[in-house]
Amino acid sequence: MKKSIFLLFAIFIATTSFAQKYQANWESINSRPVPQWFEDVKFGIFIHWGVYSVPARAPANADIGIYAKYAEWYWKRIMGNEKADVLFRDYHNKMYGEDFYYQDFAGSFKAEHFEPEKWADVFKRSGAKYVVLTSKHHEGFTLWPSEQSWNWNSVDVGPHRDLCGDLSKAVKDAGLHMGFYYSLYEWFNPLYHNNLEKYVDDHMIPQMKDLVTRYEPDIVWTDGEWDHPSEKWKSTEFLAWLYNDSPVKDRVCVNDRWGKETRGVDGGYFTTEYDLVHEGKIGDVEKAWEECRGIGTSFGYNRIEDLGNYMSSDALIDLLIEKVAAGGNLLLDIGPTADGLIPVIQQQRLLDIGSWLEINGDAIYGTRKWEGAKENKAENVFYTKKGNDLYVHCTKFPEKPIEVKGIKGAAKVTLLGTNAKTGFKKSGSKLIINIPQLSPVKNPSEFAWVFKVEGAL
Ligand code: GLC
Repeated sequence: MKKSIFLLFAIFIATTSFAQKYQANWESINSRPVPQWFEDVKFGIFIHWGVYSVPARAPANADIGIYAKYAEWYWKRIMGNEKADVLFRDYHNKMYGEDFYYQDFAGSFKAEHFEPEKWADVFKRSGAKYVVLTSKHHEGFTLWPSEQSWNWNSVDVGPHRDLCGDLSKAVKDAGLHMGFYYSLYEWFNPLYHNNLEKYVDDHMIPQMKDLVTRYEPDIVWTDGEWDHPSEKWKSTEFLAWLYNDSPVKDRVCVNDRWGKETRGVDGGYFTTEYDLVHEGKIGDVEKAWEECRGIGTSFGYNRIEDLGNYMSSDALIDLLIEKVAAGGNLLLDIGPTADGLIPVIQQQRLLDIGSWLEINGDAIYGTRKWEGAKENKAENVFYTKKGNDLYVHCTKFPEKPIEVKGIKGAAKVTLLGTNAKTGFKKSGSKLIINIPQLSPVKNPSEFAWVFKVEGAL
């Protein structure tokens, strides 16, 4: 009898430990490759939406550095004493009065015009293949009915709606990958400050597992990790669960924000933000990485930004090309309004990108960076590769023939979006691409032009 029990126990241990492919340590967690689909999709939409979307204001043109222009930091700023904080607090007191608390904004976060299908349609038409919504930002307000966040969530107050669930369904129905941003820390949660272990065990981890099991996201995008090492956040324990036992274990992607020491080192794909690299150099590594930024100076909607703060469509398309050519993705942020609308200018920027991708998407989606780019540095010229084909991206229309070294062959050269064959001459491993004459009617783009060199590699 004893022998058979022991044997059964041994089999149970053997099978579960075999099934538990990833252990709760960074060496094991880091051994999981970033799922291929993430490197193929290239372009995603970040969404910062929360109680901060009600005041929706940061000093966009003050000389206070990038981080102090983030409108989603409104609560932290009005409670702080740094130079930038005074600007926020003076504004708040003037507009709302000293007795108006940040929490009082929650009732005005109504999302009354929120139509998730319309949002998903704009994202699809933008050419984006994935979406990442703030499920909970540093303010601790959850956009889903989290039982750990009683009366500070979008069902108990404000919209009285499961914003995460509604958008997740619409985005997935549109055929896009859905992801969630989740802030590990909460600025003013007493439990976070008084008993971190209890906060992690009883609040943070249960919330993260609830988010994953309820909505089965393809991306878990953590942030707000900088106060503590990953050990304190029990990040490897959560990731071992996510990779071994969660409903998304095979396809889920995560980033590198899991503790003060992990950015650019541990976790999933590496992240940069407004081109700021957290120690280490992104783009020189073979691991997948992603740049994120707003169209303007903020992630959350900042209603006092003007055109001068917003990147043009041309600049945004050039940014996408630059990041993809360097081997990364671009996660471009929008800040919806408190009543649930995407500001028209943000829609317009996204749809301009989409119209460009409609013609040139082959040169972006599923491509990888070309090693030969290093010996072909030229202003306003970028390269991507796919199979044996090379794509030559020109972010300014070239005035003279383009010379490319390190080319094996050239069966055909075409300018994407036109039928016109492009003349070229190959001598040895050097290719000269002649620039076609284009009438305004034939011009495929006003932003960037891509030559496809078939059989180049
Ligand atoms: C920073 C900011 C946060 C923003 C995030 C996006 O961590 O704290 O407001 O959500 O960047 O990358």
